[in-house]
Amino acid sequence: MSKDTLTVTDNRTGKTYELPIEHGTVRAMDLRQIKTGADDFGLMAYDPAFMNTASTKSSITFIDGDKGILEYRGYPIDELAEHASFLEVSYLLLFGELPNRSQLHEFQHAITHHTMVHENIREFIDAFRYDAHPMGILVSTVGALSTFYPDAKNLDDAEVRRLQMNRLIAKMPTLAAYAYRHRRGLPIIYPDNDLSYSGNFLNMLFKMTETKYTPNPVIEKALDVLFILHADHEQNCSTSAMRGVGSSRVDPFSATAAACAALYGPLHGGANEAAIRMLNEIGSVRNIPDYIRRAKAGEVRLMGFGHRVYKNYDPRAKVIKKLAYQVFDQVGKNPLIDIAVELEKIALEDDYFVQRKLYPNVDFYSGLIYQSMGLPMDIFPVLFAIGRTPGWLAQWEEMINDNEQKIARPRQIYLGEGRRPFVPLSDR
Ligand code: SDX
Repeated sequence: MSKDTLTVTDNRTGKTYELPIEHGTVRAMDLRQIKTGADDFGLMAYDPAFMNTASTKSSITFIDGDKGILEYRGYPIDELAEHASFLEVSYLLLFGELPNRSQLHEFQHAITHHTMVHENIREFIDAFRYDAHPMGILVSTVGALSTFYPDAKNLDDAEVRRLQMNRLIAKMPTLAAYAYRHRRGLPIIYPDNDLSYSGNFLNMLFKMTETKYTPNPVIEKALDVLFILHADHEQNCSTSAMRGVGSSRVDPFSATAAACAALYGPLHGGANEAAIRMLNEIGSVRNIPDYIRRAKAGEVRLMGFGHRVYKNYDPRAKVIKKLAYQVFDQVGKNPLIDIAVELEKIALEDDYFVQRKLYPNVDFYSGLIYQSMGLPMDIFPVLFAIGRTPGWLAQWEEMINDNEQKIARPRQIYLGEGRRPFVPLSDR
């Protein structure tokens, strides 16, 4: 009769061990009993970049990379994108269930009334160079928020955690808009509580001399959907940073600043900006074959292509591609879409990409929409961070409440010098 165990024989000693299998995994700590002698530390697992390591148990997001499935708390991403608002999805990620009418109203009220930031933050942003990258500003200002809310260190109090989480979800758009206005040399726009979460973000970005900003409803909805599509993605690089830094029991503002820093990288959240730069570099459909050749030669990467987990079409990219044409109907077609669609077509017919199961990911088309909204490329990763904030916070709180978790501190394989005596400078 089959058993949920793994039997291994250590050929160094001839000993056999039976390791329990749970949820398709063996516990790495169960390897430590495998020793060659009493003073042997015991076996460890070696897994650079955690290619095959589950760092946690989680109930928040499910991805099936082979089937291209993404679900938040069991709800398919395309259904949430079509039927829910970003704040409804944020509530779902944080609390595990979709809110009823009164719960949603209360959550919306809480977020709406935490959108302002201390004037010192505005002065802090003013100190940046005019051309400072908005992600550099975001990493700095999110971290700076921790100095305004010292009570945030009291992580054991659920109400204190809730208040900080509401503050972060509410203030990310404000920080992003302030960075954008600073770059443009425009006066900052304060939040307008009459507008939706995404409508207010557009207000803080684009309001000029009119007395009341009125968002374009199609653009407002498109932005809300984009935030939903970016809201969580299980144990990606920035979420792992949020959990890892948060495991030292630092406040959530400082942990979120670390997550923002991880997202800034061009292999992660910076890919939406890099994808547009790539399409601009290609410049024309006729230049695609040569760029594909360069990618296959390893000279460049197709930014917005490939994924550690998805070995099928990223379900978010499907929704975004459809959304792009809805936005273009409002603001005019982004000419780069023709290059993007042709690049996708050619790549998906090429063995190099087919064999490596490289498909467009969430970042391939999203930048085209942001650019069509009139946003500069370097703010695209900031928009990713706004969407991902409720996911980071839901994952962080799950880690705080997980009795199996403790401070993250991996081991290593030491391959350096053996012990040796100090050499005085005169002898070097
Ligand atoms: C996000 O993890 C998440 O969930 C992330 C994310 C989220 O929501 O949080 O989904 C968001 O970060 C999406 C990914 C955005 N990044 C990019 O689009 C940058 C371009 N993509 C790659 O750099 C790459 O595909 C990664 C980083 C996304 C995944 O890298 P892996 O899993 O480490 O794969 P790899 O680098 O080992 O590549 C495997 C092979 C290599 O070829 P060989 O050495 O086997 O010959 O595929 C090739 C790579 O050269 N390859 C690519 C490629 N991606 C991988 N070749 C050309 N273009 C690419 N984009």
